[in-house]
Amino acid sequence: TDAHTAGPFIAAIDQGTTSSRCIVFDTDGRIVSVDQKEHEQIFPKPGWVEHNAAEIWRNVQQVVDGAVAKAGITSADVKAIGITNQRETTLLWDKHTGEPVANAIVWQDTRTAELCRQLGGAEGQDRFRAATGLPLASYFAGPKIRWLLDNTPGLRARAEAGDILFGTMDSWVIWNLTGGPGRGVHVTDVTNASRTMLMNLETLDWDAGILDAMGVPAAVLPEIRSSAEVYGRAASGTLTGIPVASALGDQQAALFGQTCYAQGEAKSTYGTGTFLLMNTADEPVHSENGLLTTVGYRIGDQPAVYALEGSIAITGALVQWMRDQMGIISTAAEIETLALSVEDNGGAYFVPAFSGLFAPYWRDDARGVIAGLTRYVTKAHLARAVLEATAWQTREIVDAMTKDSGVELTSLKVDGGMTANNLLMQTLADVLDAPVVRPLVAETTCLGAAYAAGLAVGFWPDTDALRANWRRAAEWTPRMDEATREREYNDWLKAVQRTMGWIE
Ligand code: G3P
Repeated sequence: TDAHTAGPFIAAIDQGTTSSRCIVFDTDGRIVSVDQKEHEQIFPKPGWVEHNAAEIWRNVQQVVDGAVAKAGITSADVKAIGITNQRETTLLWDKHTGEPVANAIVWQDTRTAELCRQLGGAEGQDRFRAATGLPLASYFAGPKIRWLLDNTPGLRARAEAGDILFGTMDSWVIWNLTGGPGRGVHVTDVTNASRTMLMNLETLDWDAGILDAMGVPAAVLPEIRSSAEVYGRAASGTLTGIPVASALGDQQAALFGQTCYAQGEAKSTYGTGTFLLMNTADEPVHSENGLLTTVGYRIGDQPAVYALEGSIAITGALVQWMRDQMGIISTAAEIETLALSVEDNGGAYFVPAFSGLFAPYWRDDARGVIAGLTRYVTKAHLARAVLEATAWQTREIVDAMTKDSGVELTSLKVDGGMTANNLLMQTLADVLDAPVVRPLVAETTCLGAAYAAGLAVGFWPDTDALRANWRRAAEWTPRMDEATREREYNDWLKAVQRTMGWIE
């Protein structure tokens, strides 16, 4: 990075699961400055995960100020602000005061599992799948809205009267950034809306039948807009007056930042969870193998681009759990050093089904297991098992993607914080039996939001200009023999079976 790069610049805000960050980019898509702040993870009961949205908004303001200050620039140098965010995390707030009515229910929270079963009724988990591309699972936002309305005294009446607004974190940040009560624009983009289970994938509008079935009043919903257009201008803070010009869910933003603009191009992002998305062009492809159909992005009035997605709830979060809950390591990076102190996993497999199992299983009733334990196993073997869990979960998603698309993976583009872990990247190449490639800018989530905002304001002319910025920084090639790979995959799959049906 070069702090003396001449402007102009784009600022991207990433409101993520564990932290909020702001990155300033130059015209070559290089990072000029970064500021980041973690927020509290609230675990009120087993399976519940919450965030304090007021804390998140304060952090967002701080990191924007921080990144602009570190870049040594003024607001006049910033041409647009892009937004990306953790998806599905659900918030309801009072339109008049801007006060959240409760903590946000985080995407990993499983409290709506029983509600989802009721909503499925005789039609089961696929009741809304044709319309939304999603199975009924506690992951998505719609049932979380319903839960809040059912469980907060007096809230449904206020919502029906038009006093309450719903948003995922994109909507919450944009509404506050553009002025809050009385002034803020209440919008979301097609990618975030596609994770609510309330949007029809073909019309790209709220689906009246599903709203009715789900018991969500239309009055709370934001307007659905494209991922790249000017929604409004910042009304306070360092960037007052700058256009807010993009919004994409973080995984779709990473797809965009990795310049996966052609059909069949895919990326996998290693953060709290891991999400592999493949561009399927202007066709919503329906999965036969447990993947999700979702909107990839929509640039202004161009047609929407769709994607197939394999979602894994817990990958980096398992490393965090080893650090914060178990105290086995004291920094996330130590997981690699500890794992490297032994040759293999000692026979242990760790399936982190902490939020149930996401793709390809969609089982809310699963819970985590460590299988294969003997007295031989040490914490170093467990550290291996932790990293291997990320690799094997990816392998299962890739297998599903291959079956759905009929296309064999020739290499995998990766990004996100965990890609700093060399042992993990090598293990990934080994279990996939395909090369793994990381670009120079591994912060593709922010980069994708910056790219979309830049396109909206003419900072970049078109996606070809963005493609030209993509540079390979590292590549790992497979070196595991076939027999070992198959034997270990089989052991992994046995361990996965043992997680299911724990919750009755
Ligand atoms: O669907 C959840 C996903 O958007 C969260 O991503 O990177 O904040 O864990 P991340």
